[in-house]
Amino acid sequence: MTTPLRHVLLVGFMGSGKSSVGRLLANRLGAPFIDLDDRIAAEAGRAIPEIFQDDGEEAFRDRETASLRTLAEEPPSIVACGGGAVLRPENRGLLRELGTVVYLQVDAEEAVRRCPTGTGRPLLANRSPEDVARLLESREPLYAEVADLVVTTMGLSAAAVAEHIQRLLGGSSQTVPEDHPTAAEKECE
Ligand code: S3P
Repeated sequence: MTTPLRHVLLVGFMGSGKSSVGRLLANRLGAPFIDLDDRIAAEAGRAIPEIFQDDGEEAFRDRETASLRTLAEEPPSIVACGGGAVLRPENRGLLRELGTVVYLQVDAEEAVRRCPTGTGRPLLANRSPEDVARLLESREPLYAEVADLVVTTMGLSAAAVAEHIQRLLGGSSQTVPEDHPTAAEKECE
């Protein structure tokens, strides 16, 4: 197992598998795993939907930026970022400075399928599929802007995606694994 020299930061839309893939990738690489949303919730002493409801989205985004800043002081880790971590230009700059950014792609239909009730995700709750598609579309250029690597998760298990990223980080393969299970692992369960 080879611990990366810099952070590996997973970005992508809600339901793209950042947390599940990140945990598995960290195991494979023998690196620490950080889930930025979990950290924000732990520091606030409240779940993300409560932070949104009580303090508003901007206050959550301030916490997100503050959390990203602290990563500069930490040993190389696999970091699952929240889906909106790319929204602020400052965050996009931070992400690029912090390490290798991997964009996990998912389409809107699959994102909704993986997060059926918007569980724990205020920005998915009570949204029509068309709204979700619009939100994803508005963010795609931002994910692409920060990405060093772009990896599709469609039809792939989290394990297959983690294995694929490990290969890409090692520079030994640029192809999607062929021997993957077809059922995508659900990030929201
Ligand atoms: C958000 C995504 C969530 C969480 C918050 C806002 C977003 O993280 O940070 O609900 O703006 O896309 P996940 O992408 O891990 O669900």
